[in-house]
Amino acid sequence: MILVTGGAGYVGSHCVLELLKNAYDVLIFDNLSTGHIETVKTLKKFGNVEFIKGDLLDEKLIMNAVSGRNIDAVLHFAAYSQVGESVVNPQKYYINNVCGTLNLLKAILENDVKKIVFSSTAATYGNPKYVPIDENHPQEPINTYGRTKLFIEKIMDDYDKAYGLKSVRLRYFNVAGANSDGKIGEWHDPETHLIPNILKSTFGNRKTFEMFGDDYETKDGTCVRDYINVEDLAKAHFLALKYLENGGNTDFFNLGTKEGNTVKEVFSVCEQVVGKSIAVDIKPRRDGDTTILVADNTKAKKVLGWSPEKSLHDCIETAYNWEKILANKNPQK
Ligand code: UFG
Repeated sequence: MILVTGGAGYVGSHCVLELLKNAYDVLIFDNLSTGHIETVKTLKKFGNVEFIKGDLLDEKLIMNAVSGRNIDAVLHFAAYSQVGESVVNPQKYYINNVCGTLNLLKAILENDVKKIVFSSTAATYGNPKYVPIDENHPQEPINTYGRTKLFIEKIMDDYDKAYGLKSVRLRYFNVAGANSDGKIGEWHDPETHLIPNILKSTFGNRKTFEMFGDDYETKDGTCVRDYINVEDLAKAHFLALKYLENGGNTDFFNLGTKEGNTVKEVFSVCEQVVGKSIAVDIKPRRDGDTTILVADNTKAKKVLGWSPEKSLHDCIETAYNWEKILANKNPQK
């Protein structure tokens, strides 16, 4: 059985679905602070899923969850992940992300579980010194969120040396899209990400889409990001798990497409998918936004045998299908 912390959230739930497709039994441990019980109910239809509503800060609960079951490996997603909030309220982030992980690691090591795939981020690199960013790029995060993820990576290194914990750290770039059959998707409240915000603005009396800055030094003045499809990302987690099962050593990989798209390019694909022009309000730059972030994904391709298959258009099409489902659930939001 695979323990998936944060399995009711956006990336976690798509990875659970990928595990179920590959006939794994899954234990989801999630406090539902940002994840959704409806997502868990949907996942249960596709395989053997056990669910514990719990917080990693509850040391006894996570210890009992692991010791009472036959856990082979862990996929660890549970974390707060809003960059802006992390700067305003760092304590919330350090306690939840770092202390929660320490409790998880204690619980698994005491039960002799030594394989973990960790949801890390491109935010650990900070402002790029060069692009595309490879895994040797210095890790100098510029916000608390990125620092919590970097500290966890370092903790995992120490635990490998001392206790033989084998970890794969997957550093995501901009995750996008939804399950292609419309079962699950991105469901944040509040939503801060580009693609869902553009799409949401097309429903009823929603807020006009705000574009943060068109005076960057890029081809059209807007920021460049590397949008990686969430189902491609889920496949990478499955391959990372296989890698550890086959005796692979601790390692870290960028997950991105190696292609950058500007905010305006993303916007124009959204207009194509929605089939109408979308209103836009140009705003000043958003604090903390880096001009360009693109992944060098050579290492993940070579070592994990992973290759992203879906296009930006696929991401936006599936995201739009999902937004239509969400709009029916929450007509006001
Ligand atoms: N943007 C808008 N309007 C919006 C939302 C976003 O113009 O309503 C712009 C942003 O200014 C930025 C681009 O769209 O230029 C992408 O913004 P997102 O918020 O979608 O994504 P980020 O690149 O800010 O953040 C992502 C992940 C973080 C991770 C970070 C790595 O969501 O978790 O990449 O640096 F930390």
